[in-house]
Amino acid sequence: MADEIVPPANELAAVALGNDGSTVKRAEFSNRVLIKSILGRPDGGATLAGQKVRIGGWVKSGREQGKGAFAFLAVNDGSCPANLQVMVDSSLYDLSKLVATGTCVTVEGVLKLPPEGKDKQMIELSVEKVIDVGTVEAKYPLPKTKLTLEFLRDMLHLRPRTNSISAIARIRNALAFATHSFFQEHSFLYVHTPIITTSDCEGAGEMFQVTTLINHTEQVEKDLIVNPPPTEADVEAARLIVKEKGAAVAQLKAADASKQEIKASVDELTIAKANLAQVEERSKLKPGLPKKDGKIDYSNDFFSRQAFLTVSGQLQVETYACALSSVYTFGPTFRAENSHTTRHLAEFWMVEPEIAFADLQDDMNCAEAYVKYMCKWLLEKCYDDMELMAKNFDRGCIERLQLVASTPFGRITYTEAVELLERAVAEGKKFENKVEWGVDLASEHERYLTEVMFQKPVIVYNYPKGIKAFYMRLNDDGKTVAAMDVLVPKVGELIGGSQREERYDVITQRIKEMGLPIEPYKWYIDLRRYGTVKHCGFGLGFERMILFATGIDNIRDVIPFPRYPGKADL
Ligand code: 4AD
Ligand code: MG
Repeated sequence: MADEIVPPANELAAVALGNDGSTVKRAEFSNRVLIKSILGRPDGGATLAGQKVRIGGWVKSGREQGKGAFAFLAVNDGSCPANLQVMVDSSLYDLSKLVATGTCVTVEGVLKLPPEGKDKQMIELSVEKVIDVGTVEAKYPLPKTKLTLEFLRDMLHLRPRTNSISAIARIRNALAFATHSFFQEHSFLYVHTPIITTSDCEGAGEMFQVTTLINHTEQVEKDLIVNPPPTEADVEAARLIVKEKGAAVAQLKAADASKQEIKASVDELTIAKANLAQVEERSKLKPGLPKKDGKIDYSNDFFSRQAFLTVSGQLQVETYACALSSVYTFGPTFRAENSHTTRHLAEFWMVEPEIAFADLQDDMNCAEAYVKYMCKWLLEKCYDDMELMAKNFDRGCIERLQLVASTPFGRITYTEAVELLERAVAEGKKFENKVEWGVDLASEHERYLTEVMFQKPVIVYNYPKGIKAFYMRLNDDGKTVAAMDVLVPKVGELIGGSQREERYDVITQRIKEMGLPIEPYKWYIDLRRYGTVKHCGFGLGFERMILFATGIDNIRDVIPFPRYPGKADL
């Protein structure tokens, strides 16, 4: 599609021709121009003065002026953080129906320079025609006062109308685009891994179960109340009828009865047998989950076995890495951990690249390049939204992106990290959790390392094997694995990854050592039997990346529909 569109005559109002000869592009698939294409110009839209446009958006604030002769509306369509100032004369529409916050308007008019020095706006729209109005019925649930993110969490359907949540949505969108852009530029293939899975990637048992057994059981129980199951006497009676009908057939055959008579009798017997089968089947119906040997019998479940929501697409994406070399998956993941922290969700999105013919160094290099790429992307493509974040949430967020984009990450081993933290403790630093070799770093330790000691992202690698997952490659020391975590200011752990154990014997041994069953991982171990390859990968928590970029404090505010213990609205 060419950048400049010549509008059909009847759609002229959708496109403005600038004084400098440039055009404002009509939104494709929607007969209007985006407010961004007016206000997002380097001159704030001033050169478009005199041009006719159609816009649509929601009123942020409206006021009648000149004793009700006209109204000013600040209109936002979500394409950018800025509002377009729109002026409507009372001769065009009942102004009282336009000024309420939340009203939706589609209007057409002429762009004008506002009176000198009167306003911050570089351009405003003087309306000539009101095309559509979506009025606000009753009281708008979002008061005009400054709203807290916490308050908005109970208003998920309306919160995208707010400046903060819409800016976060644009930043989130930009980071998703940056993710695909980064991996595609580096020849990674996007692979869709399953959401429903039968293997526990992290082996941590934090999976949500997927089952239809419960609905099915409820249905049976309801049905049994309305329609009680046949008793033993009912079954006996049905059996007796079959017996009688059988005897009747035999009798007719012995008496050389006509074909017709015998057929009629056989038909009756067939019906009696079908009835008996049904009565017997129903007599087995019991309330409660189906059991076998005292355990729930999953052979009756939807997949004829236990199934779960995935905690990570890693194991499955490895099958593609071991065929297509560089791949990534990016999708929702689920963890049934009862965490109420500001860094955990029950449903979150993860970006997981997996690289064949690559080791832990390559893994760290890829993770660092990817995070830097996203920081640069936001600075280039979302500066106005980042300014809003800086103003409302975290004054330092733009500098942080600049710093991270341009400074090499720190890299230390877990052993060195523990030594640094122990030294800090010896010098008087107090932590709630003990620092000790062999114990996982707590969030407070991670944040101290990145925020205080390094003051930039730091990658900690070679963790004790006892605190990491079974698939991580055992180092030659026999004590540590080739794992790496990327820790960043504001968040702590942003990325977890590792070189994978590619040796058949070693991985089998590790699975056993960790007390995990071999059977569900058989296919995974197979990758080590047929053309095994050195490979590595990592997982980046997408919402944590948004927290890091924006400086927002709570992860529940950077995903459109947060799910956490006790909450799954909409
Ligand atoms: O460190 P994790 O558990 O690693 C894995 O799942 C690996 N299988 C990834 C891989 O190697 N392909 O999780 C990866 C990242 C964490 O670093 C964190 O940023 C994020 O996912 N994360 C969460 N984000 C929000 N809520 C939760 N409950 C999270 N759990 C992990
Ligand atoms: Mg981790």
